[in-house]
Amino acid sequence: MKNIKIKIPATVANIVCGFDILGMAINEPYDEMEIRLSETPDIIIRHTDEFRLPEEAAKNVAGIVLIKIQEHLNLKNGFEVIIHKHIKPGSGLGSSAASAAGAAFAANILLGNLLSKEELVYFAMFGEELASGVKHADNIAPCIYGGITLVKSSDPVDIISLNTPDVYVVAVHPQVEVKTSDARQILRKNIELKDAIIQWGNIAGLVAGIEKNDLPLIGRSLNDVIVEPVRSILIPEFDTIKRKSLEFGALGGGISGSGPSIFMLTANKGTAQEIAEMMKSVYDDIGIDSLVYVSDINSTGVIITEQNH
Ligand code: HSE
Repeated sequence: MKNIKIKIPATVANIVCGFDILGMAINEPYDEMEIRLSETPDIIIRHTDEFRLPEEAAKNVAGIVLIKIQEHLNLKNGFEVIIHKHIKPGSGLGSSAASAAGAAFAANILLGNLLSKEELVYFAMFGEELASGVKHADNIAPCIYGGITLVKSSDPVDIISLNTPDVYVVAVHPQVEVKTSDARQILRKNIELKDAIIQWGNIAGLVAGIEKNDLPLIGRSLNDVIVEPVRSILIPEFDTIKRKSLEFGALGGGISGSGPSIFMLTANKGTAQEIAEMMKSVYDDIGIDSLVYVSDINSTGVIITEQNH
């Protein structure tokens, strides 16, 4: 039977002010997945990494997506999946979205492109629901579409692909775990109108800056008065990293997804590399291991790297 191998990008959700609606795909890190269409209806998941994620299909982020697609299409076939996970779970870099989006994308290729991109997002959101308790598409959408995406609506799925501005992305992942479900629990349920007005201005400014490739406008719109003040307390040295990054010339940045990773946008690669070194040394100084990534925006989303019939 047919099998393919795919490469799935990490994603930075929210892009600071666009909680649950904005996201971008980046080239580093990425997951790989091998997936085979099988004659029997079983869905078999295996990981080659050390993260000890559940492999029972109904409890696995990729598995639940495949179950939903199988049910929807009344399939007699099943899938055998091998996941090579490099995006650490709980990093805030879209690890669960990579598994969910990868499974939806690969299944669709193996089945002859029966589903639209919006349907892939719809099915992949079941994986996010399993991982975090909530269906959100801000990691899934850029993972599938590539580039920067706006989730105009997740029910019904309405995704807008935005322009890719000329920026670099630097991200640091301090090795402390922040579960998305916990990071959502602590958020305020109500916001004041005056805060909403500031946030709307920033989101609109950010989208306009992205569309016009206006880097100063992007920089001054990367400001979040609703989520960051609450969540940043979960991230060691968040304020130091942000202040120093701006001093080093970052356009702006903040928490990647639900954290603990922190990302910054820069106008050139050299600045991004200097910030990466600074970020690492801040964590070295307090004895916290960290991983740093310097990347540009990934414009393709998930891609096929091998295909066999
Ligand atoms: N928008 C989601 C959140 C992304 O911030 O909770 C989770 O990766």
